[in-house]
Amino acid sequence: MIKDRSDSKLGRREFLGTAVAAAAFMIVKPEAVRGTAANSAVRLGVLGCGGRGTEVAGGFINNTGTRVVALADLFADQLATAENNFNKQLATKGFPTIDKTQLFKGPKAYEEIIASKEVDAILITTPPYFHPHHLEAVVAGGKHAYCEKPVAIDVPGAKHVVEIGKKAEGKVSLTVGFQIRKAPPFVELVRRIQGGALGKLGCGLAYYYCPHIDRRDWPNASADEKRLRNWVWDRTISGDIIVEQNIHVIDICNWTLQGHPTKAVGAASRKLRDDAGNCSDNFNLVFTYPNDVQVSFGSTQFDKHEFDAAVRFFGTRGSCEAHYDHRMHISGAEPWDAGLGAMQQGGQFSAAGKFSGALDQADSEKQKSFVESITSGKFLNDAALGADSALSAILGRTAAYTGKTITWDKLMKSKEVLDPKIDLNKFA
Ligand SMILES: NC(=O)c1ccc[n+]([C@@H]2O[C@H](COP(=O)([O-])OP(=O)(O)OC[C@H]3O[C@@H](n4cnc5c(N)ncnc54)[C@H](O)[C@@H]3O)[C@@H](O)[C@H]2O)c1
Repeated sequence: MIKDRSDSKLGRREFLGTAVAAAAFMIVKPEAVRGTAANSAVRLGVLGCGGRGTEVAGGFINNTGTRVVALADLFADQLATAENNFNKQLATKGFPTIDKTQLFKGPKAYEEIIASKEVDAILITTPPYFHPHHLEAVVAGGKHAYCEKPVAIDVPGAKHVVEIGKKAEGKVSLTVGFQIRKAPPFVELVRRIQGGALGKLGCGLAYYYCPHIDRRDWPNASADEKRLRNWVWDRTISGDIIVEQNIHVIDICNWTLQGHPTKAVGAASRKLRDDAGNCSDNFNLVFTYPNDVQVSFGSTQFDKHEFDAAVRFFGTRGSCEAHYDHRMHISGAEPWDAGLGAMQQGGQFSAAGKFSGALDQADSEKQKSFVESITSGKFLNDAALGADSALSAILGRTAAYTGKTITWDKLMKSKEVLDPKIDLNKFA
């Protein structure tokens, strides 16, 4: 929770942790220095007002006392729905509604929200293709950035994000939407594994079995608008299901194994989904991690089957099983159970990322850590980490598309740029 420092002599700029490191980046009106809780709260702008933006920014309001003060979206209807929704949530906290001048629509909306003097931090929840460009603009504009995963969908994009991270260093806080790294049960599991609870690791398993993500048809929209509205079905705008969605469990492997895969081999196909897009409906791979730890990886995205995402690791002293839901334990020499209780809603998938069980506190902890990094001035910088996990997923995608073993070193030479070739000016 943000402490209300309205009674302190601390000015707003100091309160936001920007006094020394980023004084040049923030412009503060004298009347906002002290006063109400509203003046003390971090002021958040939401760039991309869909399902995840609504979920995370709503969480910021409820879990951290952050004010949502500005919204930007390509489409007017998305903006209007979000405005209505956030105004209701802000009212419950006694915050003012969003000023009409802080609603930005169209292809240049990202530039306008970044230029707004009312905004301290920006939540980037646009489709993945736009992330490197939007993140670059947010950091260049001197705003703190919370960028949803994946940070990029191709190798040049991921490398670019690493460079953006260097520019952000010490100036603004930059975090990436891997909220599972903040989920207390997962934090404890990884601490135990890294402390030797499983002994020497031999191999692992990571999977993300997800039903089809249904979207509206948009019958009167142009072909390009349909692609943008239903980007989650589009390989080029999303990066395909492994980069857009399954990246979460690949990121857990990178976190637990303290590195990225050195190579991958496998296959993917699209046989069972019949939406208008071109994303794969399954991936099956083997990733090789440092110390020759092989991780079998599987994912699906079709039909109405039960949702389940999990990782398992096997070592000389024991093994673990960790799902998004209520099943998390270690068996063997140091048995442990996360004690998450009975399953309430196993098998349900949330397109907005809201899961019950091991991830109950993931988002709230993630939101608190971002706000604390801003208010304390101890800025986060997840750019390299975010790029590493994006590249790991791209490694798997490349191996599956080509049917060849792809090494990390070879992948890093890729100059392939994914481009949906859509002129956004048509949506001005
Ligand atoms: N961390 C998680 O658990 C989690 C969960 C769900 C989604 N996500 C990520 O969040 C991001 C958004 O996903 P979503 O499900 O909210 O998608 P969405 O389609 O519901 O929302 C995207 C929004 O961005 C807008 N938009 C599209 N192009 C834009 C542009 N160029 N400029 C401004 N606005 C633009 C759309 O109109 C839409 O309102 C994705 O990167 C996704 O992978 C993360």
